[in-house]
Amino acid sequence: MKKLMIAAVAGLVLASCGGEKASESTEQTAPTAAQEATQPESTAEEPVAAPTSQATLTLEGNDQMRFDKTELKVAAGAEVTLTLTHTGTMGKEVMGHNFVLLKEGVAVESFASKAARAKDNEYIPEGDEVIAHTKLIGGGESDTITFVAPAPGTYEFICSFPGHYGLMRGTFVVE
Ligand code: CO
Repeated sequence: MKKLMIAAVAGLVLASCGGEKASESTEQTAPTAAQEATQPESTAEEPVAAPTSQATLTLEGNDQMRFDKTELKVAAGAEVTLTLTHTGTMGKEVMGHNFVLLKEGVAVESFASKAARAKDNEYIPEGDEVIAHTKLIGGGESDTITFVAPAPGTYEFICSFPGHYGLMRGTFVVE
């Protein structure tokens, strides 16, 4: 049943975004003469897969320990620009929020308990379990990050501030 609803939402999103495809551009900065002179082998490097589309996402966190969305959706390979805004007034020491996108298969509970012990690194624990994350912000602040959407699938995002992941979590769908 949930899958059906997701598919229906996806259809709406695709329908409403259909007109944007034509405006895609493939801007590339040509290397300067100086760069070419100092890096003569650069043209032989394996090219990084270029993003196939752009996606702009906004997410809000508030003083009630809630995100305003429980699902975000992008196309596979999209270059994602995500802005997290804290719409409350409480400081990040007591009501800090971040957006942490976890790799597929990462157990949220165990990740969150590790994160809670990583205060010195804004609650981002050591390891290789995160696809992308914002900095930790307090009321009135925002942070914008850019990352390439991972392979198609359903991922989880949380706020990793201690005790927040129970309420501040959602799914990040890549189609
Ligand atoms: Co939070």
